[in-house]
Amino acid sequence: MGEKAKIILSEHEYEADVVVGTEGEKGIDVIHLRRDTRNVVLDPGFVNTASCSSAITFIDGEKGILRYRGYPIEQLAEKSSFLEVCWLLMKGELPNTAELEEFTEEITTHTMLHESVREFYAGFPRDAHPMAILASVVCSLSAFYQGDVGNPEDITYRNSLRLLAKLPTIAAWAYKKSIGQPFMYPRNDLGYSENFLYMMFGVPAEDFEIVPEMVDVLNSLLIIHADHEQNCSTSTVRLVRSSMANLFASITSGICALWGHRHGGANQRVVEMLQNIQKDGGNAKKYIEMAKDKKSGFRLMGFGHRVYKNFDPRAKIIKEKCHDFLKAIDCKDPLLDVAIELEEAALNDDYFKERNLYPNVDFYSGIIYRAMGIPVPAFTVMFALGRLPGWIAHAIELNADPKNKIGRPRQIYTGSTERDFVDIENR
Ligand code: SDX
Repeated sequence: MGEKAKIILSEHEYEADVVVGTEGEKGIDVIHLRRDTRNVVLDPGFVNTASCSSAITFIDGEKGILRYRGYPIEQLAEKSSFLEVCWLLMKGELPNTAELEEFTEEITTHTMLHESVREFYAGFPRDAHPMAILASVVCSLSAFYQGDVGNPEDITYRNSLRLLAKLPTIAAWAYKKSIGQPFMYPRNDLGYSENFLYMMFGVPAEDFEIVPEMVDVLNSLLIIHADHEQNCSTSTVRLVRSSMANLFASITSGICALWGHRHGGANQRVVEMLQNIQKDGGNAKKYIEMAKDKKSGFRLMGFGHRVYKNFDPRAKIIKEKCHDFLKAIDCKDPLLDVAIELEEAALNDDYFKERNLYPNVDFYSGIIYRAMGIPVPAFTVMFALGRLPGWIAHAIELNADPKNKIGRPRQIYTGSTERDFVDIENR
């Protein structure tokens, strides 16, 4: 007999099952609560609400643990490749050699965009935010593949390949548009990360030199960003997909949710914050005090997390890779010194300690992107490139659940009770 939870209501006691996950997490199953008691649970921001059961990613916020399909992020970031992690997230197991080779081939041969898509870029203003371009072009892909036929799983898989293959091209072309350089077409002789760097920084006038350290650090960053269970953008993808919207539209909703500065947009805000602190004489303490003063409206971007009440394991990995990468390319970025000083000051301040506010995935990533030559507005695009397989994996998992329903939360109404219409001459 499983554990039960008793909810004591004024009129009677309600008994609910307690579901237990494979890592011992417990959830009170309230699936019939409203049917049986006319009560709903109120939880703005879903701080205490599990929207689903999922087998993709496990986070222990108290211990700073992150695993994709059971594999620790530290091992994947060190030993795996981004396409291998894409397969792992989508299929649930690490691929064997033949599977990875075929998957890589399928991605490599779908990296080009329809020539009509290229024409969209002419219509964007030159200073268009690249996330606006990413969302628009990704959604437009549904117009090019609407005629795809077959069973839904096969169509979803083909569209997953198209998205994984084309997003780097879409992102790189947004950058080329912003600097007025010719678009670089993808090359099938390059790996996933190499191809992206080639399309970003290559020019038709000369050969492109691949920097191995840049490829390695990009591969790790993409892996580290690949999934994070029910974060805002992934939950958004699930909600949109639950209406059976096509995969391109569902992923577009994730891109839009990620854009916000509380979420993926934070990596852009972190670097802007570090630049402001540097311009202001590098006075970290002043900004720590501002972040503690609610009236200032200032938050330490790249700090804090809904789930991690310990170090974000990704921040630790990225901080180390940041040091190694800047050293390997002999780059001295004063913002790194500002970031380290800010981290030190915050980690020794009671306000941050009491609230378990630690650096998150966005705190150091922007410094690496800067050193790679990626413009600040494109930092969140880099986050989207990494998060894409996670979004896809959750969409696939949702559709594979035979009991999946359209997401439709309830509410507690607090507006006017019934009243009659008043003609305008009597108002
Ligand atoms: C990502 O969910 C995910 O998994 C997201 C993500 C992923 O991989 O998908 O990990 C990626 O989005 C990382 C987070 C990036 N965002 C930022 O760095 C923006 C700055 N951080 C915050 O705005 C905030 O910490 C959130 C949004 C990340 C978390 O917000 P919560 O969980 O709603 O926490 P909260 O706003 O209720 O804060 C709790 C307390 C408050 O103080 P009190 O009311 O208790 O006095 O901590 C304070 C907040 O004022 N606080 C901060 C702070 N973050 C929280 N104070 C100063 N600086 C901060 N950064």
